Amino acid sequence: MAKKIVIANWKMNPASAKEALDIFNAIKKFGGKYSASIVVCPPFPFLSLFSFKAKNLFLGAQNLFYEKKGAFTGEVASPMLASLNVSYSLVGHSERRKLGETDDVVSRKISSALSEKITPIVCVGEKERDGEGIFFNYLKEQVLSSLKSISKKQISKIIVAYEPVWAISTEGNGAMDSSAIYETIIFLRKILVDKYGKEASKVKIIYGGSVNSKNINSIFSSGVDGVLVGKDSLSPVNFEKIVKEMSA
Ligand code: PGA
Repeated sequence: MAKKIVIANWKMNPASAKEALDIFNAIKKFGGKYSASIVVCPPFPFLSLFSFKAKNLFLGAQNLFYEKKGAFTGEVASPMLASLNVSYSLVGHSERRKLGETDDVVSRKISSALSEKITPIVCVGEKERDGEGIFFNYLKEQVLSSLKSISKKQISKIIVAYEPVWAISTEGNGAMDSSAIYETIIFLRKILVDKYGKEASKVKIIYGGSVNSKNINSIFSSGVDGVLVGKDSLSPVNFEKIVKEMSA
């Protein structure tokens, strides 16, 4: 079975460098024990604190800008991240889309990441589900438009993170059930294969939204290639349970 990937999205946490190091060191300790790849995405200021060499552990950013350098106050460019050994980056997380990030911007950011050999983890997901399945059209449009700058040659170099917005940060039981995850992953795979051909069958499609140490077993059974974990990735004990399950 293909190796799974577990992404830790710390969002705007923790508050201090000391706490960030404590969490990272705890993850580093157990990281090598399991087969799943782990990608830790801390806030930008903490990226340069983490030095390590481990075969299953990688650094990720939560965002990047599409220009390479210049007068863009407050932005962080992909070459800067690459110089800090960042090998993955979230792109188009719903919390950024909510702040105004469009599919067009997402598409430019994906190209920028790829140009530095940073694997973009492209986040997509509907805001709500309706009974008639109209959300499937929304999802299709969002995926194709976010990937519009991506060629057939590049498609296998991205990861798609399916994160239904309504399932994110629900404080516990709000994750999607495993059969609905399975169905949506198949739908996304078909969109990619229809557009990009058989190379798209190599794309990892992962799930995010209230993944935790209690529901990971059921989420694993949906056949996802990995998970994107927010809240529970800040607890090394819970995060280890998730990584362990995804290594089964
Ligand atoms: P959550 O966050 O696990 O806290 O729901 C997931 C995400 O937003 O990436």
